[in-house]
Amino acid sequence: MRILTVFGTRPEAIKMAPVIRRLAADPHVTSLVCVTAQHRQMLDRVLGVFAIRPDCDLDVMREGQGLTWVTTAVLERMAAVYAELKPDRVLVQGDTTTTLAAALAAFYARVPVAHVEAGLRTDDVYSPWPEEMNRRLTTRIANLHFPPTEAARRNLVREGVEPSQIVVTGNTVIDALLEAIAILDADPAQVAAIEASLPRLDLGRRKILVTGHRRENFDGGLDRVAQGLLQLAGRGDVQIIYPVHLNPNVRQVAEKVLGAHSSIHLIPPLDYLPFVHLMRRVDLIITDSGGVQEEAPSLGKPVLVTRDTTERPEAVAAGTVKLVGTDTALLVAEASRLLDDPAAYEQMSIAHNPYGDGMATGRILEALLKG
Ligand code: UD1
Ligand code: UDP
Repeated sequence: MRILTVFGTRPEAIKMAPVIRRLAADPHVTSLVCVTAQHRQMLDRVLGVFAIRPDCDLDVMREGQGLTWVTTAVLERMAAVYAELKPDRVLVQGDTTTTLAAALAAFYARVPVAHVEAGLRTDDVYSPWPEEMNRRLTTRIANLHFPPTEAARRNLVREGVEPSQIVVTGNTVIDALLEAIAILDADPAQVAAIEASLPRLDLGRRKILVTGHRRENFDGGLDRVAQGLLQLAGRGDVQIIYPVHLNPNVRQVAEKVLGAHSSIHLIPPLDYLPFVHLMRRVDLIITDSGGVQEEAPSLGKPVLVTRDTTERPEAVAAGTVKLVGTDTALLVAEASRLLDDPAAYEQMSIAHNPYGDGMATGRILEALLKG
């Protein structure tokens, strides 16, 4: 079976890396990989870390690109890829514009699509935007669906997806995370090198890790979050480490508002192992990232999510993740509560694993070979 995996951004690459390795090792499969390069540098770093050599690279990224550009470029260029590589099945992941456009192009080429991380939903098509619509439309195109959780499976069934086409697998990000942890734990020299490459952190002060990139937060939300971070840094007993996403909309706000504060370390995006190491080292995470919301509960790290909705309700229900939106005062209040109240902190930092057991990849492979 010729299986073509298509992806384009950092999170898709991290989440598909364990799947690609497994497909490449299977004697029944010819594994092909196409990257759209919707992200360039952030994708290439992941490809390097996981030693993935794509069979084709659409190189679509443009500075400050719009949604229409990414959609049309991927749609147009994937048509030629499907014609040339003639896959029996296409595998897409998640909810980016690459995901939707690659799936639609596969439909036009009459190649069946399997969707990894299917069934995540909010009830607002504009939050996250455009991801909520991307994943709903990808569901309509796919004929094999790999939801990470039971709740995601139920979402698909509610929308009329044939239950026999659904296999609950867990999220492959947990496969990647557990592998990263095993590598870090087995290699103190690498951990020391990572530590030396990070900003020097003061052991006496609490550490907050921050990431952010959601499009729906560009219109003031990122700025309100940054104002909250300034106030938190002003307490004097915390330090903030913020690997800044390369999106210019994110960088401009981060650098303008936070660039001058001595307790705030703005750094470039980190490779996966250093980022996992940092997640384990910090006391608290403030993020709007989907992947980080999935990883942090396994590490027992409290997460404040700077969004109004989440398609990942499992960790919220379990109490390790809390939605705070982008209201400055609420963010500061919730972060301060965790920093000042050991009982509140304790309650949010119980390690648990609602998104997977590290075996999602095996379940996906099995279902692909059956289907
Ligand atoms: C994209 C996805 C989002 C996903 C996120 C993960 C869409 C619409 N958005 O958002 O779902 O959660 O990736 O990070 O699919 N840039 C670089 N180098 C890079 C990556 C980005 O310079 O390696 C800059 C470029 O100027 C680019 C801009 O960031 O035009 C935006 O990239 P884009 O992929 O359109 O949006 P993200 O905000 O990264
Ligand atoms: N990540 C990383 N380096 C960073 C920030 C994040 O490797 O500097 C990883 C993180 O562990 C997670 C993924 O990137 O696996 C999340 O990517 P992002 O937040 O860009 O996208 P989202 O998950 O929101 O779609």
